[in-house]
Amino acid sequence: MPHSHGKNHGEDLLALALQVAREAGELLMKRPLAFDISTKTSALDFATQMDTDSETLIVESLLQARPTDGIVGEEGASRPSTSGITWVIDPIDGTVNYLYALPGWNISIGARDGQGPLVGVVHAPTLNSTWTAIRGGGAFFNGVAIACNDPVTLDRALIGTGFEYDVDKRIEQGRVVAHLLPLIRDLRRMGSAAVDLCYVAMGAFDGFYESGLKEWDSAAGGLVATEAGALVTTNEAGITICAGPALHPALVEALTG
Ligand code: IPD
Repeated sequence: MPHSHGKNHGEDLLALALQVAREAGELLMKRPLAFDISTKTSALDFATQMDTDSETLIVESLLQARPTDGIVGEEGASRPSTSGITWVIDPIDGTVNYLYALPGWNISIGARDGQGPLVGVVHAPTLNSTWTAIRGGGAFFNGVAIACNDPVTLDRALIGTGFEYDVDKRIEQGRVVAHLLPLIRDLRRMGSAAVDLCYVAMGAFDGFYESGLKEWDSAAGGLVATEAGALVTTNEAGITICAGPALHPALVEALTG
């Protein structure tokens, strides 16, 4: 058998994901003098040459080590798995932050198997922050075990959120903000769903929600959050909601209807 299984299997995958995320981080820290911007689903949704260069580096490195794994990447990398492991990659989560040289953009690499998310790495060089998790093994911030805030009541909750690139969906997201804002401590919009989920995991946020997230936005950060004791669910309206066990039902209720 080419690879070990059980806990060590997860550890091997995590070590690989960490190494590859750090290599991509080094690439991305060398900001280009000029950006090639290509628009995607809307004029607001774009990728730069650095998104594609980072995805290429990550995919090549992962497949060199594990040629039979599957790949799902934000910038189009797609490949079926014959090993049972599929990597879910956001080569720059927080592309708008990256373009404007704001901190918080990151490389998000998750691996899933037949039972769901198995490994997650969110690496944010500008924050000197790396979050990691293996299913059943807890969550870590720069190597130190972390836990979400719990219990927290809705009226004392600091909540992170983000907005979609589609203008019509933003109108609805604006309505949701108007409803929620008077019910909570305050709202934050940092610019990266992956880091937002990790912030819940380490107690820097009490909760996070966003509608329309893609698998690569939440694959790694969602595992970090659940391994830190948070609940992560997606409601009928497509809103992903992440918070500690006491706050989660109240946040779900506040965001429903
Ligand atoms: C985006 C960021 C942002 C969130 C968007 C995502 P990208 O990811 O996570 O915070 O609000 O929904 O699409 O496009 O920069 O990889």
